[in-house]
Amino acid sequence: MSIGIIGSGALGSNIARMLARSGIPATITNRRGPASLAPLVAEVGSSITAGTIEEAASADIVFVALRWVDLEKVLGRLPAWDGRIVVDATNAVEFLDPNSADAKDPSNPLAAYGIKVVDLGGKHSSQVFRQLVPGARVVKAFNHLDVRVLSQPQVSGGRRVLFYSGDDAAAKADVRKIMDAAAFSPVDLGALDVGGPLASPPFGPLAAGSFVKLA
Ligand SMILES: NC(=O)c1ccc[n+]([C@@H]2O[C@H](COP(=O)([O-])OP(=O)(O)OC[C@H]3O[C@@H](n4cnc5c(N)ncnc54)[C@H](OP(=O)(O)O)[C@@H]3O)[C@@H](O)[C@H]2O)c1
Repeated sequence: MSIGIIGSGALGSNIARMLARSGIPATITNRRGPASLAPLVAEVGSSITAGTIEEAASADIVFVALRWVDLEKVLGRLPAWDGRIVVDATNAVEFLDPNSADAKDPSNPLAAYGIKVVDLGGKHSSQVFRQLVPGARVVKAFNHLDVRVLSQPQVSGGRRVLFYSGDDAAAKADVRKIMDAAAFSPVDLGALDVGGPLASPPFGPLAAGSFVKLA
């Protein structure tokens, strides 16, 4: 199965590192173009290829590692998904300019973290995300932990838990295989409408903790 990664920032680059470490090839893309990805490719090795957004988006499994504010404009111009798997690793937060009024807003409980929640009008983020990728089989995953832990699947004598959810059993099984190959402990939270909100930062009840399954 081919894999694409859209976004090569904190999350996308660490997904690429995780896949490379697990011997899984992938094509990664970003806004600045393939040449800007030469240092990452040099670091992780030739199993990770820098490509265009069209190349990454045409893979069998496509990781979306974009900021929430960029989703609509990037995903809106991609060809039909035709049942391919999209891993939604995003969170509905806005990254704040440290000098902005929002960053100093005392009513924002997340100001200290440099983010604020995006108002989705009462919907949860997967409800909004799946409308942006019509025809895709969406699996919500890789969104609930700080990206730095993706390099540490085995901790404290066990395997770090990664939650995932989705409405298509076969799609979830394929994402689970990636988590297994990367030496994490996958936990299925059920349907997108159930598992998505449970493990979505900042307020999902399962998002804040870091769980380890002891062998
Ligand atoms: N950071 C974390 O610890 C973490 C953990 C879990 C989930 N998340 C979620 O992951 C998502 C990404 O976060 P991040 O921290 O990785 O953000 P980031 O470092 O800002 O990376 C965003 C990436 O999106 C790319 N991008 C922007 N516009 C694009 C376009 N038109 N076409 C293709 N690529 C485009 C950027 O490309 P350029 O590099 O060329 O600018 C960049 O590589 C967010 O939804 C966040 O909430 C983050």
